[in-house]
Amino acid sequence: MSETLVSMKNISKEFSGNVVLDKVDFNIYKGEIMALLGENGAGKSTLMKILTGVYIKTSGEIYLDGSLVNFNNIKESQNHGIAIIHQELNLIRHLSIAENIFLGREPLKKAKNIDWKKLYADTKVWLDILGIKENPKELIKNISVGKQQLVEIAKALSLDAKIIIMDEPTGALTVSETKRLFEVVRDLKHKGHSIVYISHRLNEIFEICDDVTILRDGQLIAERNIKEVDEEKIIEMMVGRKLSEQYPRVSCIPGEMVLEVKGITNKFVSDVSFEIREGEILGVSGLMGAGRTELARTIYGIYKMDKGEILLDGKKAIIHNSTDALSLGIAYVSEDRKANGIVLGLDVRENITLASLKKFSGKFGNIHFAEEEASAQGYIEDMSVKTNGTKQLVRFLSGGNQQKVSIAKNLNTNPRVLILDEPTRGVDVGAKKEIYELINKFKLEGKGIIMISSEIPEIIGISDRVMVMHEGKVTDIISMEGASQENIMRLAVGKEVDEI
Ligand SMILES: Nc1ncnc2c1ncn2[C@@H]1O[C@H](COP(=O)(O)OP(=O)(O)OP(=O)(O)O)[C@@H](O)[C@H]1O
Ligand SMILES: [Mg+2]
Repeated sequence: MSETLVSMKNISKEFSGNVVLDKVDFNIYKGEIMALLGENGAGKSTLMKILTGVYIKTSGEIYLDGSLVNFNNIKESQNHGIAIIHQELNLIRHLSIAENIFLGREPLKKAKNIDWKKLYADTKVWLDILGIKENPKELIKNISVGKQQLVEIAKALSLDAKIIIMDEPTGALTVSETKRLFEVVRDLKHKGHSIVYISHRLNEIFEICDDVTILRDGQLIAERNIKEVDEEKIIEMMVGRKLSEQYPRVSCIPGEMVLEVKGITNKFVSDVSFEIREGEILGVSGLMGAGRTELARTIYGIYKMDKGEILLDGKKAIIHNSTDALSLGIAYVSEDRKANGIVLGLDVRENITLASLKKFSGKFGNIHFAEEEASAQGYIEDMSVKTNGTKQLVRFLSGGNQQKVSIAKNLNTNPRVLILDEPTRGVDVGAKKEIYELINKFKLEGKGIIMISSEIPEIIGISDRVMVMHEGKVTDIISMEGASQENIMRLAVGKEVDEI
């Protein structure tokens, strides 16, 4: 093992008396990639925020290159060569890519005004390295979440930090963007930089990391060389028990037709048709940009249809907006939980019952708080949401737990059709299984479910049929017998199976 660059010792952190890190030790080695793993709410992001001065630790010491350091804000840690790419992006949406990357450190001309030409040229260099084709002048709000993630990464690289912390960097990246990122990460490593890599995708850990540190419930479980562990061992250390079958499949005989989509066409998708019966899960696969989210949003009334129709329980559904969709019994769990899923400033209970308040209201609009509370409590237990209670603001939940709240909110509307868009993004292995079990429960109740996912094993593991999309069109709808990782991938790049 090479030289220790950072050593965090006995780190504890409390939030209003609640211990979230308990005497944790954490090391970063020179020129190595350290994975930081643990279930949702284990304390990974908090530990890294302490290292970078975003949060102040309750106790413990941090050594950098052997000397005791204490960072009171992110600027101080940056000055010591540490950069962090946060799990929840921190970009300013109405500013350009270039302005975001160099915010507060823009190149200046002699007269002290911004040297725009240099700003754009310098940005271009970083974008090229990451393979981003966007114009440096493009506004953040006009680029995809994946591209925004890459801009955050470009920003960290441009700081020329010797330590770069990546908190779930690949969540929104396409396959090729992830590949490019890994090349950049390996290159950084060879140049002697150290990296902390947080991800719930364990295959990524084995692909690029040298060591792993595992946290559970705010405590250090182990630090190991990657060669000493396998996936099963890591999962066991993360969840504290062996995990049986990751994809619990339940079978039921499909009932009546619930949803018929006929020839939906607009500027995003073209002539999309499919059907779902009661108790069926239709997996939707495809590469980023295939039009899956756009299709979901069209069915949900966010985007207009130019052609086509939707039948619900055999009747033509008139959907002008998402309120229409919801009242007809279509619910949509967005992939972008911050923008459409949950309200960070409301508490857990308010979020879970937000879309279904009618259910909890009396004749005069008065809210039955006890029922509301019981409902929220039920979901917290069913989905193991890690929270202090129903009154905790969602802002303070870990990323994965926010995702669970967003799903609970939609389940609570008791829809006929549930559309889940990347339901397990950022969710840990144990909680993933809980989400699958919840989806299965829904299936057994006879609902129709559409599950969009970029994780093919999950599509294969949970769905009854798979619809694969490419460039806004359906390439094929295949049954589980015909579904393999390879042939879904082929269909996703636009090839028919028999062309293979
Ligand atoms: N500002 C805060 N105030 C109160 N509690 C907080 C705050 N930030 C984090 N927590 C709590 O600390 C615990 C650890 O959260 P953290 O975000 O570090 O988890 P994580 O391991 O990064 O999880 P995930 O994989 O879901 O991102 C959680 O229970 C969370 O609710
Ligand atoms: Mg986190």
